Amino acid sequence: MYRKEFIKTVSLLTIGTISGSLLNGCAVIKYAQYSIDGNKLVIKKSEFSDMQKFVLLNVSNLPAAIYLRRNENDAFTALLTQCTHKGCEVDPDYDMLSCPCHGSKYSSAGEVISPPATEPLKKFDVLTDSENIYIII
Ligand code: FES
Repeated sequence: MYRKEFIKTVSLLTIGTISGSLLNGCAVIKYAQYSIDGNKLVIKKSEFSDMQKFVLLNVSNLPAAIYLRRNENDAFTALLTQCTHKGCEVDPDYDMLSCPCHGSKYSSAGEVISPPATEPLKKFDVLTDSENIYIII
């Protein structure tokens, strides 16, 4: 009886550890809801879960999505995900953004890490209050 319980406990711990590692390795890309107030996109801070480092926003009059990243101290960065090389849409890739067309890489602040792009991603001004994030477009 003791041996069976031991094997069951070890098996459950192993499965829990493996599935936890797999889930941590898979970044879930979330498209956030927003409203428009004049020249501002308004996003509720509650769109970010505790583990969520970034969200994407699909804005109809922009050529690519906006990458909105939560930094330390409740600061946010908003970048247009349009590659400055030839205009492809870049993809979030862990802590950077990568272009699927010719391989440019950008930091999460939009700076070029690797060419062929030479210019940073377009950055939007961001304001916050206790409940919302405001992206000036
Ligand atoms: S369009 Fe992105 S690297 Fe060329």
